[in-house]
Amino acid sequence: MSRWSQRRCRWAAPLPGHGRALEIGCGVGRFTTALAQRFERVDAIDVSATMIALAARLGIPANAHLQVGSGRDLAGLPDGTFDLAFSHLVFQHIGDRSAIASYVRELARTLRPGGVAVLQFDTRPPSAAANALHALPDPLLPRLRRRGARRHRLPPALLRGWVADAGLTLAAERRPGTAEHWVRLVKQQAADAAVTEPVSRADPQ
Ligand SMILES: C[S@@+](CC[C@H](N)C(=O)[O-])C[C@H]1O[C@@H](n2cnc3c(N)ncnc32)[C@H](O)[C@@H]1O
Repeated sequence: MSRWSQRRCRWAAPLPGHGRALEIGCGVGRFTTALAQRFERVDAIDVSATMIALAARLGIPANAHLQVGSGRDLAGLPDGTFDLAFSHLVFQHIGDRSAIASYVRELARTLRPGGVAVLQFDTRPPSAAANALHALPDPLLPRLRRRGARRHRLPPALLRGWVADAGLTLAAERRPGTAEHWVRLVKQQAADAAVTEPVSRADPQ
């Protein structure tokens, strides 16, 4: 990884540095290239065909594979495969919360047991001023406030609920309630999951 991305991810250490990595929302591929230096193979998806074409034109290492995605799932990517999943500056642009919940479930499907996801969200508290601006038509708004470019704030409790529902472990969080809320999710190994499984309510013990 580049020094910049290493600094960003230091809090989440130890991170796997080999095998297969996945990037959600790769844009022009600045992290994809960095990941490709550490992993045998990187799969990078983005909802925008324009971004994927631009990333390919700018030059991506041979072990990085770009794919246009649906914007809500990881269709075509195999189960139980990825050592690391990474996403930065992406979920904050997704207005449809069900799409983010779907990505979390898809991470639970595609990470290998023991695999780690390091993801960034904007979980600032709601702002009446931002909500009022979002109600205005795009032509009246500055470019970064328009639909597609604007940032959507996600309640952190919603995110934590989706993580738990997907069966992933929230192993660490950095700066919750801010625009740079990072989470480190782990897909437990089968043996670990068995140890932490709650006792059944029907159990007479
Ligand atoms: C601000 S760019 C960040 C790119 C890259 N992650 C980086 O940090 O350099 C946001 C990217 O997320 C992509 N994106 C937005 N919504 C998405 C979605 N639902 N699924 C996948 N990618 C999405 C956009 O097309 C864009 O390439």
